[in-house]
Amino acid sequence: MMLHRNLGPFDTTAIGHGEMPLTIENNRGHDVGIETLHASLDAGCRHIDTAWAYYTPGEEEQTGEKLVREALDTWHGPKDEVLVATKIGLRRAYDDAGKPIWPRDGKPEHLLRYGKESAMALGVDTIDLLYMHRHDPEVPYNESIEALKQLVDEGVAQYAGVSNVTIEQLDIARGILGDKLIAVQNQYSPIHLDTQDTLDYCAKLGLAFVCWSPLGGYRHPYDETKFDPFREVAAKHGVSYQQVVLAWELAKGDHMFVIPGAHRPETILDSLKAGELQLDDEDFAKLG
Ligand SMILES: NC(=O)c1ccc[n+]([C@@H]2O[C@H](COP(=O)([O-])OP(=O)(O)OC[C@H]3O[C@@H](n4cnc5c(N)ncnc54)[C@H](OP(=O)(O)O)[C@@H]3O)[C@@H](O)[C@H]2O)c1
Repeated sequence: MMLHRNLGPFDTTAIGHGEMPLTIENNRGHDVGIETLHASLDAGCRHIDTAWAYYTPGEEEQTGEKLVREALDTWHGPKDEVLVATKIGLRRAYDDAGKPIWPRDGKPEHLLRYGKESAMALGVDTIDLLYMHRHDPEVPYNESIEALKQLVDEGVAQYAGVSNVTIEQLDIARGILGDKLIAVQNQYSPIHLDTQDTLDYCAKLGLAFVCWSPLGGYRHPYDETKFDPFREVAAKHGVSYQQVVLAWELAKGDHMFVIPGAHRPETILDSLKAGELQLDDEDFAKLG
């Protein structure tokens, strides 16, 4: 049995599956995507994280959400146990240099459309958890969050979350969404500790903190030496250093959730074992 925690009213696994690498650029194709999602569901994972914007720029939109729908439709396990979270407010494009980017679009009327499109792509009447992906600086944050609230009020989403937020933005969202706000999804990992303030604030408020790119993500190069202590602890336990990283993040509090990504079954199956790893005082002294 995998480690379960309460994410708002949902009883789900503390380790979720971040779908993004399966459908953005450099993915390994549709069939590997389905195989990878089925592998994690079969292993007991009950939380999938996707987004309207998880597609390759210039190609079909919303392929991440569509892949999740297909994976669940073709899976023979208990689908109603699976928490599916998605996000609206970003799109994909290439910049002038041909680099893939994530343009922001937080206009309320667009968010209302994106939310309904997400529900359609996921094949549900009501999305379990819908996040505002990232603040669009051209739109006052409260206006975007009012649109998210409208989507909840209309039953397009059951609960709301916010992502990539500061404490100030989180307070704006709390003021508008009240107890419909259940989760904050911010980047957090040994190479990105800047969000410690929101992590602590969520613990105080009783909100779930969902770490994105918990293993450092795909934005190499970063300072690999930050993972050295995790490699040492991993060698002692005979596990991958990625499992140690995830176990260390989950130990930050009962409100912590991690959503590692993967391009293939092997890596997500390894990551899902992190909930069983028991780190001791000596390990924590080394890891901080
Ligand atoms: N809210 C936001 O703005 C935001 C932004 C970024 C990401 N996210 C979410 O966070 C999720 C995770 O982020 P991410 O995919 O960028 O990064 P990540 O989880 O930090 O890292 C994924 C990479 O780690 C490797 N990996 C995973 N588990 C491993 C293991 N046990 N052993 C060895 N390698 C392992 C994968 O390798 P392989 O490639 O070999 O499988 C993959 O390349 C995304 O899928 C998405 O759902 C949200």
